[in-house]
Amino acid sequence: MMPVTVRAKKDTSRPEIAAVLFTAAQIAARVRALAKTIQAEGKGQDFVLVGVLKGSFVFIADLLRALNLPVELDFLSLSSYAGDRSSEIVRLNFDIRANVRGKKVLLVDDIVDTGFSLAFARKHLLAKGASDVEVCVLLDKPARRKVFVPVRYIGFSVPDAFVVGYGLDYNERYRELPYIGVLKSEKVEP
Ligand code: IMP
Ligand code: MG
Repeated sequence: MMPVTVRAKKDTSRPEIAAVLFTAAQIAARVRALAKTIQAEGKGQDFVLVGVLKGSFVFIADLLRALNLPVELDFLSLSSYAGDRSSEIVRLNFDIRANVRGKKVLLVDDIVDTGFSLAFARKHLLAKGASDVEVCVLLDKPARRKVFVPVRYIGFSVPDAFVVGYGLDYNERYRELPYIGVLKSEKVEP
């Protein structure tokens, strides 16, 4: 049998992107499908969409418009840095202003990697009295998980590589790319 060569899609205008993993059209189709599932499972219930800044801003803008539901929107901001060997310290830079007491929350982020950020944010929102916090991410990088976080809705799984675009950054760059791409490994500082 002839060997099949799969050539990675490239963005010739951005040589630092090794490959395009998901095109804008693929992402749009997946976001529509996710929104349909969320809508069907939400059974028309009101909820608060909470995005984790900054990475989730493109995804949540598309998801919100694909959801045919009355929702409230708010954001919080986190930063994390390495603690001792097996831990990570997550800090709340700023909090939501919405009152989530007794309400259902859909917590939205760009990617779940180690899981520390979303585990922290979920616990934080439950402590503020949310009746339920479901998690929705565009991307899941399961190979890197260090702490369990229940993620109900996942757009795509990605391999253990640094990905950028569609809101995701590397040192605050590449958020504007309309696709999800893998950054060349020599560009990523260890
Ligand atoms: P955590 O490791 O699950 O706590 O993820 C923390 C944050 O790191 C995510 O919300 C992303 O903003 C960022 N992150 C993790 N992996 C990547 C990546 O491959 N590209 C861009 N940002 C990432
Ligand atoms: Mg983030």
